[in-house]
Amino acid sequence: MRHFLTLADLNAETMREILDLAVQIKRAWKAGESTPYLKNKVLGMIFQKPSLRTRVSFDVAMLQLGGNGLYLSPNEVQLGQRESTADVARVISRYVDVVMARVFAHSDVVELAKYATVPVINGLSDFSHPCQGMADFLTILEHKGGFEGRKLAYLGDGNNVATSLLFGAALLGLDFAIATPRGYGLHPATWAIGQRLAALTGTSLITTHDPIEAVTGADVVYTDTWTSMGQEEETQKRRQVFPPYRVDDACLRNAKDDVMVLHCLPAHRGEEITDAVADGPHSALFDQAENRLHAQKAILVWVMGATT
Ligand code: CP
Ligand code: NVA
Repeated sequence: MRHFLTLADLNAETMREILDLAVQIKRAWKAGESTPYLKNKVLGMIFQKPSLRTRVSFDVAMLQLGGNGLYLSPNEVQLGQRESTADVARVISRYVDVVMARVFAHSDVVELAKYATVPVINGLSDFSHPCQGMADFLTILEHKGGFEGRKLAYLGDGNNVATSLLFGAALLGLDFAIATPRGYGLHPATWAIGQRLAALTGTSLITTHDPIEAVTGADVVYTDTWTSMGQEEETQKRRQVFPPYRVDDACLRNAKDDVMVLHCLPAHRGEEITDAVADGPHSALFDQAENRLHAQKAILVWVMGATT
């Protein structure tokens, strides 16, 4: 059984295999060719949190692969409240062919995967956002032509998105630097996983509190919201601490001239990113958002073992 819960569960070969598949499926989509890898298959989509990109791109991905997506809102399944997460996994496995879940606690997707008899895909947890990561690395591949010798800088909160970038960069050999305020860095256990993966590929990893150190010489600069879903009560406190990590034109002057800016979206314009950067010549934000569709088709086909 193939689940897709965090990029750290993959190896470099598998990540490249899924990226190659995404490139191939995207090419077919652009050429107007059909890709019915998942004909008549159904994806159950369990959401505990809101979504635009994840919900729509998975739904459309299933349609374009010849199957169907079934959206289950936070009010319907109520993981662990209306019934146990294990029972949800056992029941939904009897109806659908593959499950995607967006949850608060990462342990909930782990629990779903443990008891499901179909593949489970993590559509964002408090720990990681691996589908986003695959779309991000697809975007970097397309715009930068490869990974080795390039540098990815992440500014802001050491959150789920930063975790997926750390793991993916370490696997693919893309040098990674993260700058966060004190107390908002990646968890030491998460960093240790990144270091273990990076040791296999010789990838350089830097963690710092200095945004300029992180961004210097970067090929890609990435940021995300200062306050993730589920942390809303900390919003005001975070607004005091994070402004030095904002991605603006002054910050980008430290990066390479042809730097690409990424953000998983939704963006809080004027907070972690300025309008001038989000809408400026370095921004690839909407190519990146589109790539959720292509990357997730590849993930779906891969977990279903439907490549042949
Ligand atoms: N980037 C992302 O996952 O967006 P949504 O929360 O809209 O799905
Ligand atoms: N870190 C953000 C990502 C949103 C797609 C969150 O978890 O809310």
